[in-house]
Amino acid sequence: MTGVGIHDIAIATGHHVLELDDLAERLGVDPAKYHVGIGQDAFSVPAPDEDIVTMGAAAAKELIDRHGVDGIRTVLFATESGVDQSKAAGVYVHGLLGLPKAVRVVELKQACYGGMAAVQLALGIVARAPHERVLVIAADVARYDVDTPAEPTQGAGAAAILVSADPDLIEIEPAAGVYTADVDDFWRPNDRSTALVDGRLSVSAYVNAFVGAWDDLAEQGGPAYDDIARFVHHQPFTKMAIKAHRKLTQHVGAPFDESDLAIGFTYNRQTGNTYTASLWIGLAALLDLDDDLAGERLGLFSYGSGSVGELITGVVRPDYREHRRTGRVRSLLEARVPLTVDAYRELHAGGAATSEDVERPRVTTAPFRFAGVRGGARHYEASA
Ligand code: CAA
Repeated sequence: MTGVGIHDIAIATGHHVLELDDLAERLGVDPAKYHVGIGQDAFSVPAPDEDIVTMGAAAAKELIDRHGVDGIRTVLFATESGVDQSKAAGVYVHGLLGLPKAVRVVELKQACYGGMAAVQLALGIVARAPHERVLVIAADVARYDVDTPAEPTQGAGAAAILVSADPDLIEIEPAAGVYTADVDDFWRPNDRSTALVDGRLSVSAYVNAFVGAWDDLAEQGGPAYDDIARFVHHQPFTKMAIKAHRKLTQHVGAPFDESDLAIGFTYNRQTGNTYTASLWIGLAALLDLDDDLAGERLGLFSYGSGSVGELITGVVRPDYREHRRTGRVRSLLEARVPLTVDAYRELHAGGAATSEDVERPRVTTAPFRFAGVRGGARHYEASA
């Protein structure tokens, strides 16, 4: 059988952007704390008629437009910011995209780790049935309370990943390093739309999970550190990846080169934290790079607070450059409409999922919009 892996990736984000310079000015913080200290420049903010469903559907639509629906029998939707306690967000996407009825759809949750879990399940399905393809969607709106240290590390975005046999972009290798520890570093009780977080603990929990996953990968017969050309990490804020990677290099006795990681940060510095989508948006940035990565091995690390970490490796396919859409994500980021701090905070106050009937104003220019709640149920539609 041919290898299995990532055939294509598409990214979506929110309609609006808040520049962290503006937040810094409002809060009386030195902007360098954001740009250098946490390594973020801005974050995406969804319009009132956007959420994980509209962003996830926008990203998935790109893949369906390029590859059609043949062979897609599974949609896995990973999110921390689900819009319903029962119905999977992927079922709305299934409807919006007009996918065939002969498709299974399910939602996965483990904080920011769910996207990696979905990709692993997808790889397993395709390994068993190589004629099938699995549509993985990872989408989140990262919301913390305003006036907390976590406020500048919010964000919004989605990644859609088509997993197949004989993939165009990356063949994923079989060994995986996994790590779970029961830690209260970040969590969101059912009655809250904003996460609770012990920021300092979350940093050490992430680092421990990365090193722990590395050790497990080594035990599972994974490659040597020097045989991995580039690493991409989950990026709650990009400095987090630097801290974790520095620790890994100390652990394995390798030199640390920050510039090796920086290219994977270019989109995440602009979207902010996208939880389940963060790692895959970092991967998209790396693949959009001018450097030729053909035949190179990548390390992909996912971390979800609470906590679960997983490190996998994949080899970039020889012709991957023919299948990239360079410039697409950059144009999405540049098209965002800037918000003042007051306007962002007003949207933040109204951002929680609700069962009250209310129509949403028409704002987004993305392909799909959240029309509002009718009879307690959420309704979505094409924007045009
Ligand atoms: N110029 C340059 N750097 C500056 C600076 C300045 N003027 N002022 C401060 N800094 C630096 C600090 O030295 C510090 O750097 P180091 O960490 O390298 O020492 C950095 O800026 C941050 O400063 P603080 O630690 O004082 O920042 P803070 O208390 O305001 O909080 C935070 C930072 C803990 C990350 C907070 O933003 C937070 O809680 N974020 C949410 C939690 C999070 O994202 N955790 C990451 C792992 S959890 C996860 O991965 C799951 C998930 O997605 C949530």
